[in-house]
Amino acid sequence: MVTPIPATLIAGDGIGPEIVDATLAALEALGAPFEWDRQIAGLEGVTVAGDPLPKATLDSIRRTRLALKGPLETPSGGGYRSSNVRLREEFQLYANLRPALTVIPGGRYDKIDLVVVRENLEGLYIGHEHYVKIDDDPHAVAMATGINTRAGSRRLLEYAFEHAVLTGRKKVTIVHKANIMKALTGIFLETGLELYEKKYKGRFELDTVIIDACAMKLVLNPWQFDMLVTTNLFGDILSDLVAGLVGGLGMAPGANIGADAAIFEAVHGSAPDIAGRGLANPTALLLAAALMLDHVKLPEMATRLRKAIDATLNVDQVRTGDLGGKASTSEFTRALVARINQG
Ligand code: NAI
Repeated sequence: MVTPIPATLIAGDGIGPEIVDATLAALEALGAPFEWDRQIAGLEGVTVAGDPLPKATLDSIRRTRLALKGPLETPSGGGYRSSNVRLREEFQLYANLRPALTVIPGGRYDKIDLVVVRENLEGLYIGHEHYVKIDDDPHAVAMATGINTRAGSRRLLEYAFEHAVLTGRKKVTIVHKANIMKALTGIFLETGLELYEKKYKGRFELDTVIIDACAMKLVLNPWQFDMLVTTNLFGDILSDLVAGLVGGLGMAPGANIGADAAIFEAVHGSAPDIAGRGLANPTALLLAAALMLDHVKLPEMATRLRKAIDATLNVDQVRTGDLGGKASTSEFTRALVARINQG
């Protein structure tokens, strides 16, 4: 009997409940020992509790330190801050892990297997921005401050390097713009090089590349990279770029790892255009659940889940509409559960 693992579950908005149901069915078939504490957030949080991130939800994650979440909508009116950003800040989720793995062969790029690790809390995303008024133009000048710290860079780089060793990555590439933003991204590069020399030399190859060259190389020959590690803004852009290499956001999982918690999610949003119609593709959230299983040290279960997803999509050819198939969310889920039960 495996020890139960308490975890918070947030179904989220739009297609959230549909893809979460599919994921729970798969996890149950695997016998994953999560003990779910169901909580609400996003639009549902506003409707039910008057807050997109109610206190009970925060308390639950504080207790379990582990969450699986569906996509959350931030209401545009009412001055609400994004729940996703608040979660990152609240639990110091400093590392964003975005693996890009080809699941359906035959696309524009085949056999992609790379990981982007993005710093999630610092850099140009800290929100220190303002306008300067000149004469009668209140928006004559716009200014933003970016802050990267040695400690913040170090903990992110250490997480990335540890993950590289743990998962057998051969090469890690630090992405920067230290030729122009000498201090802001120089500190990240310098910290990475120092850390590698002191602690990781010989355990994998370390390379560095400037962000603009990296973007070009990713389009020309993405196979030259294995793991990319970078600061917040560059990481945001590159992680969507690599999701594009494997067929778009519908197949992309994400993990937000922090000192106080780890939160797993699909990268896509709540897809309000197809919500409630049984059309949603749950693959990204299923792959996020596989990352969660890796995180709680159940890698065999994670592998079984990934293999079952692969077989459902490629052997059984059961695919949802966004992948050119005809299956509904529940038909896909039934086929996936059958595959898990066979494995
Ligand atoms: P979106 O990712 O929800 O949708 C973009 C397009 O992709 C739509 O046509 C949608 O139908 C399709 N799509 C997305 N996921 C799909 C899936 N699993 N299966 C099939 N088709 C899928 O992006 P959009 O429309 O910009 O955002 C909608 C809402 O989601 C917004 O309120 C946004 O703030 C929120 N959002 C939340 C995120 C999160 O909680 N992590 C991330 C991104 C957006």
